[in-house]
Amino acid sequence: MSDSSQTWSASGYERNARFVSDLGAGVYDWLAPQAGERILDLGCGDGALTQRIADAGAKVTGVDASPDFIEAAIARGLDARLMDGHELTLDAEFDAVFSNAALHWMTRPRDVLAGVARALKPGGRFVAEFGGHGNVAAIVTGMRAMARIHGGDAALADPWYFPTPGEYTQVLQSCGFTVDEIALIPRPTPLPTGIAGWLETFRAPFFAQYGDGKRAEVLRGLEDLLRPALCDTAGQWTADYVRLRVHAKLNS
Ligand code: BEZ
Repeated sequence: MSDSSQTWSASGYERNARFVSDLGAGVYDWLAPQAGERILDLGCGDGALTQRIADAGAKVTGVDASPDFIEAAIARGLDARLMDGHELTLDAEFDAVFSNAALHWMTRPRDVLAGVARALKPGGRFVAEFGGHGNVAAIVTGMRAMARIHGGDAALADPWYFPTPGEYTQVLQSCGFTVDEIALIPRPTPLPTGIAGWLETFRAPFFAQYGDGKRAEVLRGLEDLLRPALCDTAGQWTADYVRLRVHAKLNS
């Protein structure tokens, strides 16, 4: 994953966001890894899904921009390398490039896809799932409202790339891919540690701008604003996730 102001802790991710790799089962099925294939896992995080690909008998390499994640992936015994997804330096080595829940952190998709195209063998497949248009719209709107009320940089509420299927199809085509299938998938996602745990994991830079004195007040205000939309009467928070899933091939 990659975002200059975002840092990752493998233990925080395990506590607050393990569901992200658990929910990667659908895109894993689209990948359908075969024994002996060479597969690149782009934005491999702590390697949970990379491990599944390896268990299927594929020879998998994971790359991620977070040193903490790469350390966790290596600790699983995986081939994992520290690399920014905008600057992939791998050449025609892979039968497939896979990515789950990482591409929304990479805001220059043409640079990413140019690297994916370089990494693939001709005709190789690109199978990915990430945030699509409308993803976490309520949460982002809530943070923007807090920035209006308390002052602060509203841009820190929304550092992500969440394209529509049409927009991403055009980018893929312009980078030399043919799209086999692309779908926007609404996926309300229960949050095991509530909205506070999600915000702590995914948007710490937004709250850091308020400093220790005001951070708790802004967080409480945001929770109050979002509760009617995202928290049920039993106290279960659910994030308004929308995923974009794609299967494409590199033109030969
Ligand atoms: C995710 O990795 O699942 C995610 C990150 C940012 C916004 C929404 C989802």
